[in-house]
Amino acid sequence: LRYVVGIDVGGTKIAACLMDEEGKMPGRATFPTLASEGPKAVIGRIKQSFFEVLKQGQIEQNQVAALGIGMPGPLDTKKGIVKNTPNLPGWIDIPLLQILKSEINLPMVLENDANAAALGENLYGAGKGIDNFVYITISTGIGGGVVLNGRLFKGQDGNAAEIGHMTINFDGPRCGCGNQGCWEAYASGTALARFAREKIAAGEATKIKELAGEENIKAEHVFAAAKKGDKFALELIEKEGFYLGVGLANVVNAYNPKRIAIGGGLTHEWNMFYDRMMQVMRERALGASIEGLEVVKAALSKDVGVIGAAAVAWSIC
Ligand code: BGC
Ligand code: NA
Ligand code: ZN
Repeated sequence: LRYVVGIDVGGTKIAACLMDEEGKMPGRATFPTLASEGPKAVIGRIKQSFFEVLKQGQIEQNQVAALGIGMPGPLDTKKGIVKNTPNLPGWIDIPLLQILKSEINLPMVLENDANAAALGENLYGAGKGIDNFVYITISTGIGGGVVLNGRLFKGQDGNAAEIGHMTINFDGPRCGCGNQGCWEAYASGTALARFAREKIAAGEATKIKELAGEENIKAEHVFAAAKKGDKFALELIEKEGFYLGVGLANVVNAYNPKRIAIGGGLTHEWNMFYDRMMQVMRERALGASIEGLEVVKAALSKDVGVIGAAAVAWSIC
């Protein structure tokens, strides 16, 4: 049996899998990213996750055909370089593949995390058999991956479909990428939590604060408060649905997909924003493009990143 290793490096966790030709995963591992420790420490944990899945699957390195890595961009995927990702502090022009090659002697490929996930969903999940397919992740950031005419659309350097950085308001809040008013700065999980924190600091009375306790306020606390009927939290989530719908309309107009699958942490709360998001998307997208369109939740749920990274690894075998 042949194997590949897929590693998905996210804002909060590094997930790795060993996958065989039949799609089974005899090795799995996750480590916290601890992004604030910087690239060197994070790369150490990426290596650790690689060796851990081999150990679990009782596989030697020479039985592995390729390693695929999904990372938030922007990237230079041809050179294997992470250019400057807004959601991982300190990652500026890091030659990731070159660094990994000093310890791991395998064919390797670097791909944008959301592009990898799009390939994974297209092959094994909610995009199966769909030739014009878009995957969107809503989590720490917002990412996208586009399958056009049955093939992953990568762009010149692997940065196609950086849809989280579409400007939806030219005077909007500053985004991690340096631009203003990006979709991600309005509708990511990070943005939702930021809106909550800002209003709370300005004196807003809400259950969100009690629910978060000593912890930093996160998107999940906003959802928890909304479920308890907290008016402010419900308003924030109404806005979240609105912002998602606006961005989705742009995506629909740009790519005219048959199906869009949405994944990422926020989709745990799918029912809380789906109706509003769809309503706004329908109001704003070109009518002709939404007629046959389906918008669904991603099928591979929390495995989408690693399965996508493994799918990218298979693509170079
Ligand atoms: C990055 C994308 C990534 C997305 C989700 C964005 O900030 O620019 O490359 O796909 O976050 O991780
Ligand atoms: Na992308
Ligand atoms: Zn941006």
